[in-house]
Amino acid sequence: MSIVYLNGSYMPMSEAKISPMDRGFLFGDGIYEVIPSYDGKLVGFGPHIDRMNEGLGFIDVKFNYSHADWRAVCENLIEKNGGGNLGIYLHVSRGADSKRFHAYPEDIEATVFAFVFEIPAAPVADKEVAKAYKVSSTEDLRWKRCNIKSTALLGNVMHFQQGHASGNNEILLYNADGELTEGSACNAYIVKDGVVITPPLDNQILPGITRLMLLDILNKDGSIKVEERVVTMDEVRNADEIWLTSSSKEIAPVVELDGQPVGDGNIGDVWVKAQALYSAGKYDY
Ligand code: PDD
Repeated sequence: MSIVYLNGSYMPMSEAKISPMDRGFLFGDGIYEVIPSYDGKLVGFGPHIDRMNEGLGFIDVKFNYSHADWRAVCENLIEKNGGGNLGIYLHVSRGADSKRFHAYPEDIEATVFAFVFEIPAAPVADKEVAKAYKVSSTEDLRWKRCNIKSTALLGNVMHFQQGHASGNNEILLYNADGELTEGSACNAYIVKDGVVITPPLDNQILPGITRLMLLDILNKDGSIKVEERVVTMDEVRNADEIWLTSSSKEIAPVVELDGQPVGDGNIGDVWVKAQALYSAGKYDY
């Protein structure tokens, strides 16, 4: 049975109850995180908590669990749910109000919820066993604050569903100028002539923690050149490789875009090298 954390207590999922007046439920007024954990070892714990605190600051939710408080929640959930390969979902909403009114209420307590879900074993840098992704693409119709990891995910959900309904694993999004932003639930990259290129951080994309760690690992290693710059969809369609990153996928190689092969249609050599470096360095954050 799944044990969850709600407002300071651990309980079976079936006993966790929140008010229908919770602003997370009514407005999607909250911030969340997903942290991967393999055999009890957390990946990117510090940067994930920093991003959540930054998000709570953006939306002015007064709430301050320390890193140690959050680490205890994560470790207790891992232990109470039997360990293994888990995604740890952390969620803080503004809390439950007595009425439905858009403005932020003054004196309500934030609602804090966390649960774990199983994730696949960590990817290994081997073309034979890696999952090859197929993606479609569409204009990014989400809001202009995609840098906030808000629980209001309807825009992302609708885009993901578009890709899913057409038999794809993900969907790449581009802005009105035909520039790549990200995937509906991941960051996006191309590889051209051995160089890894990814859109710069701005309000059009989430500052992914896998992205942060991957770019740091690649830059420190130095054997693969990295560029953070605008990427046009023409470049995406002519890329040698396309990758996606997220906490539960790590680096996912894409072999098909809108029904066309990416590069030669196979998982690329730069992916193998990058995933190997990521696998070796990911517990250092
Ligand atoms: N999604 N961009 C979007 C829109 C995302 O939803 C995610 C993660 C990422 C990658 O971020 P990170 O590397 O920190 O996981 C980028 C998750 C995991 C989700 O919503 O389930």
